[in-house]
Amino acid sequence: MGLIFSKLFKNKNYILKKNIEDDINEEINRLGNQHYIVNQLFGDIFKAPLTKNLEKGIKVLDIGCGNGIWCLEMAKTFPESKFYGYDKFDVYPLHNIFSNCFLRNKINDNIEFDINIIDTLKNIPDQSFDYIFQRFMAIVIENNKWTQILKEYKRILKPNGYIELLEHDINMKIIGDEKKIKNSKKFIGSINKLLQKRSINPNIVLELDEKLKVGGFKNIIINQEYCFLNSNNLGRICSYYVKESIYAFKDYFPDIDDIFKKLQEEHINNNVYLEYFNYIATK
Ligand SMILES: C[S@@+](CC[C@H](N)C(=O)[O-])C[C@H]1O[C@@H](n2cnc3c(N)ncnc32)[C@H](O)[C@@H]1O
Repeated sequence: MGLIFSKLFKNKNYILKKNIEDDINEEINRLGNQHYIVNQLFGDIFKAPLTKNLEKGIKVLDIGCGNGIWCLEMAKTFPESKFYGYDKFDVYPLHNIFSNCFLRNKINDNIEFDINIIDTLKNIPDQSFDYIFQRFMAIVIENNKWTQILKEYKRILKPNGYIELLEHDINMKIIGDEKKIKNSKKFIGSINKLLQKRSINPNIVLELDEKLKVGGFKNIIINQEYCFLNSNNLGRICSYYVKESIYAFKDYFPDIDDIFKKLQEEHINNNVYLEYFNYIATK
């Protein structure tokens, strides 16, 4: 992408990498592929009905923005709006690419963003944003933190503000007999255990409408899309993304190459797919 990324990519306990410093480019590429897949599946990089507002100029927040690709593309498309992306790792470009896009690892200079998302959000004044976008944070946020985080999101949203959450179910799905993908199921079972050890709910993706309700949001809309790991263009990219995701857990599985070979065979020979969920709601 020709962007300058920080070399200081410190290990701060993100589950995907024990030693993330060595794997910065892999993670950036994985996030880029994920971004491309959802764009193709949903037909756009956002679903909230805010195009006119974005054209006029609104304030948008993306917590856990990763490589910043969503904020950057949105900032380019909507020059009148301001996009604030925060991530505890500075894997985003460190120089200012668009004057309306602010990618940071701190809310302000008095706070270390590293603490946790709730404390970070507490530093943001009421009614600061028109639109909050959060994507692929299901493997980051602990189960008992979701309601609190969503309540904070509601507080910092302006009246009539929108929230949008996008995730995919980490479980592999198959049309047909699940026994045909027993190795995939076993691997996902191990990932579920890893997540549970960190108090992360592997099924949270299916429960976000309930969480949004409890968080006080209204008018919840769920959009679902499916991506098959087949041989068409998107299927091939999705297969590659799945490979990157499997290898992102390599530090936990010394036999990752063997595991991957078995999983790949199952994915090639069966109608395996990933299920994506997009939630939109209003304050
Ligand atoms: C799977 S990535 C998703 C990135 C991005 N939202 C996207 O869609 O490409 C999860 C991100 O959450 C970030 N993260 C983890 N803990 C965080 C925290 N406490 N505060 C902010 N970001 C955090 C990680 O650094 C990582 O970039």
